[in-house]
Amino acid sequence: MPESQADIIVLFGGTGDLAQRMLLPSLYFLDVDGFLPEGLRIVATARAEMGRDAFVEMARQAVCERAAQGLCDEDWTRFSARLDYAAADATRPEGLQALKPLLAGAQRPMFYLALSPSLYGRVCSALSDASLVNERTRIVLEKPIGRDLETSRQINAAVGAVFSEDRIFRIDHYLGKETVQNLIALRFANALFEPLWNNLTIDHVQITVAETEGVGERWPYYDEYGALRDMVQNHMLQLLCLVAMEPPVDLEPDSVRNEKVKVLRSLRPFTRAEAQASSVRGQYAAGVVGGETAHGYETERGQPSPTETFVALRADIDNWRWAGVPFFLRTGKRLPERRTQIAIQFKEVPHSIFGGAAKADLTANRLVIDLQPDEDIELTLMNKSPGLSQGSMRLQAMPLSLSLLRAYSGPGARRRIAYERLLLDVVNGASTLFVRRDEVEAAWRWIDGIAEAWRDAGLATKPYAAGSWGPAGAFALIERAGRAWYD
Ligand code: BG6
Repeated sequence: MPESQADIIVLFGGTGDLAQRMLLPSLYFLDVDGFLPEGLRIVATARAEMGRDAFVEMARQAVCERAAQGLCDEDWTRFSARLDYAAADATRPEGLQALKPLLAGAQRPMFYLALSPSLYGRVCSALSDASLVNERTRIVLEKPIGRDLETSRQINAAVGAVFSEDRIFRIDHYLGKETVQNLIALRFANALFEPLWNNLTIDHVQITVAETEGVGERWPYYDEYGALRDMVQNHMLQLLCLVAMEPPVDLEPDSVRNEKVKVLRSLRPFTRAEAQASSVRGQYAAGVVGGETAHGYETERGQPSPTETFVALRADIDNWRWAGVPFFLRTGKRLPERRTQIAIQFKEVPHSIFGGAAKADLTANRLVIDLQPDEDIELTLMNKSPGLSQGSMRLQAMPLSLSLLRAYSGPGARRRIAYERLLLDVVNGASTLFVRRDEVEAAWRWIDGIAEAWRDAGLATKPYAAGSWGPAGAFALIERAGRAWYD
């Protein structure tokens, strides 16, 4: 095992939803593909008293659910030999006793806290007090880091008291998605785009993260956070940063993260007046999604709630590259389709040489990057409509399309879980795809400004029918700026 690689992974919250649905299947797939170092052990901990065999069976079922081709006996035997379980109360040093013997001899442990962020600080101190941390231990934290700047600072300080920043891996699982990483390739491996990537050529940018799922059983968490804190603070701002950042000098962690932080710091703070004009909060009411009737959020929640399940807002980046180019963001639950998409709308040609009907045909170019569920890149170009016409030629917008799913659909190809990339990076100690402390805090600073402006302006949520594209105000928001959502 190379010096830099982790030799044991401890999954705190090992029987929880994240570990079962994402982490264990991801580790299994990494092992099948030969990416896990030989000798790497995986220990799950949770409060429940359970023997190793019972946990291994639980993990087998979890992995089976994700393995479309089923489990291969040989692969499972090798993977399950890595697994172990220890019941622990990770918030107290004395609660960690059962874990100690399993960590004996480990040089480079990696602790994954698949726990409520409110426990991060206490768990880190307990680990330290139980002498389970050495200077090579890595710690992995899930979002959300706090609920606002103040609480994120507290968590970061508590974790930072035990682990140095280069040992802390803050996960935003969007950064583990192949298509999100492809944004870096698209922008910086093609000389074509960079000269056009600015306010001289780009009119505006739209980022949409639409989900058909409702909040369902997750409401105890969600009701505290809402769409602004659950999606915009992290996933959507990460997408915005990758679109807007300056070219980093290389892909070293700090080179990329420095550029992202600069974008976050350039986001124009919201004022109370802007809260009304530049943002919309919505909450789904009963409706129909994908042909099925769906309850409203308050019915799921069991009582009225002020929490938003939809946000649309206009962000402005005050720097030389982006001055005057609005970024329109929208995200919501119970929307008509699942779609994560970035649309870059270019400006009109400066002067049209086309007269007659062709003048009206002329539309501006658009680059649409579909991240999920489709993985497509489409550039619309104006073309001459073939054939004869009376008078001037007719024009038509035609797509130049690249389907990444089709292009890379060789035998054995499968869509990886975002956590595979991220877990492998932590095992190898590579932190480019993780979020640095100042990045989280800069994102919270901007989000806090929005939440505060909402509060001051008394901006309540507007209901929208499940299965629609959010409240009418979301359309008005972009139309006031003379644009329209790309659907
Ligand atoms: C999570 C949010 O971080 O991301 C969820 O907490 C959301 O509310 C999910 O559903 C979306 O992730 P994905 O990968 O399905 O787009």
